[in-house]
Amino acid sequence: MRACDDGAFRDRSPSIKSASFPQLSGLRLPWSGGPLEIGLNQALHVREERLSTRHDACRLLYISDIHLRNGRSDTLARQVLDAATRCSPDVVLLGGDLVDRPSELNTLSDLVGKLHDVAPVLAIGGNHDRQIGMDRVREAVAHGGGQWIHDGIARVMHGGRVIAVSGPETAPHVDGHVRVLCAHNPRIWKTSRHAGYDLVLAGHLHGCQLVACEYRDRLFPGAMFYPYCFSSHQRGSTRLVVSRGVSDLVPIRWRCPREVVLCYV
Ligand SMILES: [Fe+2]
Repeated sequence: MRACDDGAFRDRSPSIKSASFPQLSGLRLPWSGGPLEIGLNQALHVREERLSTRHDACRLLYISDIHLRNGRSDTLARQVLDAATRCSPDVVLLGGDLVDRPSELNTLSDLVGKLHDVAPVLAIGGNHDRQIGMDRVREAVAHGGGQWIHDGIARVMHGGRVIAVSGPETAPHVDGHVRVLCAHNPRIWKTSRHAGYDLVLAGHLHGCQLVACEYRDRLFPGAMFYPYCFSSHQRGSTRLVVSRGVSDLVPIRWRCPREVVLCYV
């Protein structure tokens, strides 16, 4: 789980013995500051989350916070498509904040169309999409061949199992061998953690872009201001995965790579 993240921290961090610092057993301190990422030059990081070790696990690629906007859309669309092609998922989930400007709706349709050539695309909206108009974003997704599930459920057949993927404005308690909630704001964890999902996906916070350390599954200092600034968190049989997202208004990151999340369920 989170092999890439763990490796990144392990390479740069001294080991902290829980016997010496029992109260800090979940803390990862940086040995040295990592490079500051300014701009959008780096390829998207692929984080893996393994909820299943089945050989025929369904691979869900969660992509949130693309934030298509003038001058950046071509780069972002190419990076998203590159990541999806590398991952070869069974389903692509677009987790909201897809566009920042109405002028980019056509680019969104084109991107969804190209992603649809890789795998079926399911999509929801985020707060930025609401500013553009959810109906307009939904139409752009549908025009590209994607399925809008913001207030619906998609049931994906995979290896004889039903993977039920719900949007954030859908009643819980859906049937399926695997139950996934595809959301945008991780605040939904407050109400969804007891709703019987196997996996809850969210984005929105961008990891707060700067990460000094991870403590009890939360990214700091962001979690001081946003309590749901998690990375990956298991509670009972439900796992919350919060993506650090694809792009930001101000493209600066530190120890917080722009990413997509490949989930094995
Ligand atoms: Fe966002």
